[in-house]
Amino acid sequence: MTPIKVAVLGGSGWMGKVHTMAYQTFPHFFGPSGGTAEVAMIVEANPAAAKDLQARAPGAIITQNWQEAIADPEIDLIDICLPDSLHHEVAKAALLAGKHVYCEKPLADTAAEARELADIAREKGVITRVGHAFPCNPVHHLAKEIIDAGEIGEIKMFRGCQHVDMYGDPLAPFMWRADGTKAPTGIVGDTGSHVFSFMDFLVGRVSRLIADNLIVTPRRPVVDGVGYGEQGQLDGSEDWAEVTNPDATNLLCRFENGASGVVDFSRVATGRKFMQTYEIYGTRGSLAYTYDEVNRLRVYSNDDRTGRQGFRHIDVGPENETFRAFLPLPNFALGYNESKIIEAAEVIRSITSGQPQWPTFETGHHIAQIVDACMESSRTQAWVDIPPS
Ligand SMILES: NC(=O)c1ccc[n+]([C@@H]2O[C@H](COP(=O)([O-])OP(=O)(O)OC[C@H]3O[C@@H](n4cnc5c(N)ncnc54)[C@H](O)[C@@H]3O)[C@@H](O)[C@H]2O)c1
Repeated sequence: MTPIKVAVLGGSGWMGKVHTMAYQTFPHFFGPSGGTAEVAMIVEANPAAAKDLQARAPGAIITQNWQEAIADPEIDLIDICLPDSLHHEVAKAALLAGKHVYCEKPLADTAAEARELADIAREKGVITRVGHAFPCNPVHHLAKEIIDAGEIGEIKMFRGCQHVDMYGDPLAPFMWRADGTKAPTGIVGDTGSHVFSFMDFLVGRVSRLIADNLIVTPRRPVVDGVGYGEQGQLDGSEDWAEVTNPDATNLLCRFENGASGVVDFSRVATGRKFMQTYEIYGTRGSLAYTYDEVNRLRVYSNDDRTGRQGFRHIDVGPENETFRAFLPLPNFALGYNESKIIEAAEVIRSITSGQPQWPTFETGHHIAQIVDACMESSRTQAWVDIPPS
């Protein structure tokens, strides 16, 4: 089978590196039967950062111009790892050119933009995928299997959160993530979208919500050349930039199936290097997950007899096909990069088989609707209804 030719856009950034690695790596674990990929082009606007790209993808064309990737008839898949505000423009151009598109989250800055992308993708009949890799961890597929089998009954409540402390320190440098022109929805699209992806995967569509967004630190020093999570050196001569998008959000929501949700996320939770949890309460049992125990699901069942009830923990291991592809032994954890390798394998399998796989741009649209509703609700301090797709 001819390899799918991929152009990775934003190749020197965090996601650009991870995606490039994932295409090169997944056949080691999943074999070539679902198709393979060739990173044929890397687009990177920062020439200094682009220096080592040729070594990372031998033979690939290296360019600074994303339009070149879209115009190249050899390229099958456009992989967008660019700052958020470029996603819509680049994805739209790629879809109109008939390319398959794999776009990092958030799919677009607004639900209207995301709707437009999903509609063009449907008209063009191409494969789309949004970069929500956390649910690719087989532990979340176990959670879904338990829910779909009715083992915890009807879902009544969801609690979810995701926190980091990259901006816990008020002197942590300004970067595009805090700039409302480059990331208009701030933490809501950046981190909230991950929690929303779990909600969509495990509980269902959201029908209404009320949210409170906060800018916790209104100004940050500008320190050139610092990457994600880096502090840089401050010498007192720095310029300061306004933070123009939310640092943190608290929200309540209702799902279409009647369940209710409590969700919070932020980039200012001092000491929380990466906190991601959910709890799902049903009429017959419950599920609880924390990223601190990355492959472990806690399961409670009313069916256990009195005196023996309590949360059991299940560590996903080699009895799961996806886990076994990486590791023959239980308790050797699958982490973030493995989730991205699984995601890349699924994207390529979707293209070769013609079968889209969750989360497509339709999912990206619903998540964008939730993000939009958070922004509007926080502005108006009122409940906002989310229309059906
Ligand atoms: N799914 C996840 O878990 C996850 C994690 C981190 C980031 N992301 C998303 O991935 C995207 C990229 O984030 P990142 O952390 O890799 O950012 P980053 O800043 O590390 O990388 C972005 C790269 O794009 C390059 N770039 C900027 N404008 C460009 C242009 N016009 N043409 C070509 N290159 C350009 C930059 O030079 C940089 O190398 C964001 O949308 C972010 O929300 C997703």
